Amino acid sequence: VGVCVIPIRYIGRKMLARARVVQSSQGDLSSTLQENFSSQRDIRAFELEQQQIRLFRDRIRRYIQASIGAVRWQSLLTPLIEFVSAIAMAATLLVGNMNGMNMGDFAALATAMYLCYEPVKKLGAVHNKAETLNAGLERINHVLNAPDDVPEPENPRSPAAWKGEVEFRNVCFGYQQDSPVMRNIDLRIPSGQVVALVGPSGAGKTTFINLLCRFYDVLSGSVKVDGIDVREMSKKELLSHIALVSQYPVLFRGSVADNIRIGRPDASDAEVEEAGRMSAVDSFINETGEGYSRMIGEMGEGLSGGQRQRVSLARAFLKNAPILVLDEATASLDMKSEEQIQKEIERLASGRTTFIIAHRFSTIRMADRILVLEKGRVVADGTHEELMASSPLYRELYNKQQMVAEEEGGAPC
Ligand SMILES: Nc1ncnc2c1ncn2[C@@H]1O[C@H](COP(=O)(O)OP(=O)(O)OP(=O)(O)O)[C@@H](O)[C@H]1O
Ligand SMILES: [Mg+2]
Repeated sequence: VGVCVIPIRYIGRKMLARARVVQSSQGDLSSTLQENFSSQRDIRAFELEQQQIRLFRDRIRRYIQASIGAVRWQSLLTPLIEFVSAIAMAATLLVGNMNGMNMGDFAALATAMYLCYEPVKKLGAVHNKAETLNAGLERINHVLNAPDDVPEPENPRSPAAWKGEVEFRNVCFGYQQDSPVMRNIDLRIPSGQVVALVGPSGAGKTTFINLLCRFYDVLSGSVKVDGIDVREMSKKELLSHIALVSQYPVLFRGSVADNIRIGRPDASDAEVEEAGRMSAVDSFINETGEGYSRMIGEMGEGLSGGQRQRVSLARAFLKNAPILVLDEATASLDMKSEEQIQKEIERLASGRTTFIIAHRFSTIRMADRILVLEKGRVVADGTHEELMASSPLYRELYNKQQMVAEEEGGAPC
């Protein structure tokens, strides 16, 4: 039994190493599968089928090789133990013979040794299984024990009243330490102000919102809402006071009503339908006659880009939060639908601190104040008239937009 421990431990170590490779190759295989299923249209459009088939074949080959490696070591255990047992039995025979052991004693000893064989084999099998599971556990722990980049405060603070006043104090931020995306942002937005963020693509508009919602923490400086640093607030409480329509809205598998109700889970059917009316969801669901029970597939499958955006807007109408954030919320809508929804957005925004990010200037005409961002800095801050007079970048963005609006046949802003 003692000698058998040596191959059991040796094979166990080999099994752990192989099981790690099996786990990681299985992970790669699943992500390749998921990527292929979710982007099948783009794969066809760019004729990537052969390339993806090759990639999948590579991944599956790696997985099979790793699995065969693990099975080889696993299968080696039984013959190894049998080999050790046979040597032990032969040694017993030899020693017994040399010491003149009688037949009865020898039969008893051989039976005892034979009885030991099965448990030792099982012990080896259990050890192998444990090492395989250990490799899986290592991967799970890696995820579960990953440090939280935006940790929950130990003693969360709440503002005395949620009014929606926002303050950025000398904020610097970068997704990577050495490449800054926000540089020295210093501004105060009083409660109820409607602020538009404009600027070229990649200027940092969505990043500004990411910091306000505390999806990331600032590298230096602070972001405060109603006088309290967002890092000192409970994340759940902060986000429950922000209605966010993100640049890339996500819809879930379920009915249109379920998807709108995400804005406020306890909302009544009538409230859901009112939100749907305000964001012009009703105009497309009534076409099919299914109404709000119309089913949406995974990731919004079955709806157009503009229709998804309207469902996502309806959530914000339902949420009734003091801070409203619209990140390119109407970018996929046609001019007519946008104008229709615009009036409702103006009504929703009144009395709330509102951030509107839009490349179309028609969307930001309701703003009390416009911030012009460029390469992570606020390069101009003021009303439309002030910026037209003082900011060359704003004038340039505005004039280009005017030309696009005229080409699209819409009303100039
Ligand atoms: N998750 C991320 N990791 C690393 N870099 C990022 C990430 N998100 C954005 N960036 C970078 O940060 C910069 C600002 O991006 P941001 O999304 O804030 O731009 P934006 O002004 O919203 O642009 P757009 O008008 O195209 O939406 C860009 O240079 C971008 O490449
Ligand atoms: Mg953006």
